[in-house]
Amino acid sequence: MSTSVEVKIFPTQKKAVKSLAKGIYKFISDSTQKRFDIALSGGSTPKLLLDVLAGKYSDKLPWERIHLWWGDERCVPPDSKESNFKMAAGHLISKIAIPDENIHRIKGENVPEEEAIEYAKQIKAQLNSRGDWPVFDLIILGLGDDGHTASIFPYQMDVFRHDDICTVTQHPITGQKRVTLTGKVLNNANRVFFLVTGKSKSMRIAEIMNDDEAAKLLPAYYIEPENGELTWYIDQDAAALLQ
Ligand code: 6PG
Repeated sequence: MSTSVEVKIFPTQKKAVKSLAKGIYKFISDSTQKRFDIALSGGSTPKLLLDVLAGKYSDKLPWERIHLWWGDERCVPPDSKESNFKMAAGHLISKIAIPDENIHRIKGENVPEEEAIEYAKQIKAQLNSRGDWPVFDLIILGLGDDGHTASIFPYQMDVFRHDDICTVTQHPITGQKRVTLTGKVLNNANRVFFLVTGKSKSMRIAEIMNDDEAAKLLPAYYIEPENGELTWYIDQDAAALLQ
């Protein structure tokens, strides 16, 4: 397989989310695979997606065969309102019959550098590999207003090209430490679904989709799974500046 890129634009965030949820359901239900390793994104956009998965798909998806990981996590306790795990626990995990052992959270309460090593160990031990890198069946990504994805921020292309599975970054404005998957892992996934909605993302979406010079400083611009498919789920607001 080589990278196939599909850009789907929807009139509303809700329609984009419903289509993405259906995309997840389709690739899982079409497969006899015994286990699916999926990395979730954080922030606020995924909330609606997780609500749909916890609602319409709560009894349609084989949760016992689905393992949930995270593309990144803020270095905060799991009960912090900043925690990506806490968000997913409230919008999805607490509402579905998924075994505890299928939940692989990044422990934001631990020393970041130690947790990055530990999380990478767990990924390496549990996921299949392609070449030297672990393979996620699906990685869901968001896009920050500044063009970051996971917790790889603009001008951090060294992080994108990092030789470890996980590393520690810092939010450029708040200084908040994050543990994040690195670019080679993101680009080794079988599928990457970007979910990007809202006017605040429209400039970055236009830069990336139009191959602008400015896009070349954005980690999200370099997401192209070498052996997988990339699908952008974008609403009209985020697509507003596309020609
Ligand atoms: C995080 C996310 C990050 C997020 C974007 C978009 O921990 O913040 O993983 O990559 O996807 O910042 O966030 P919003 O959905 O809140 O705009």
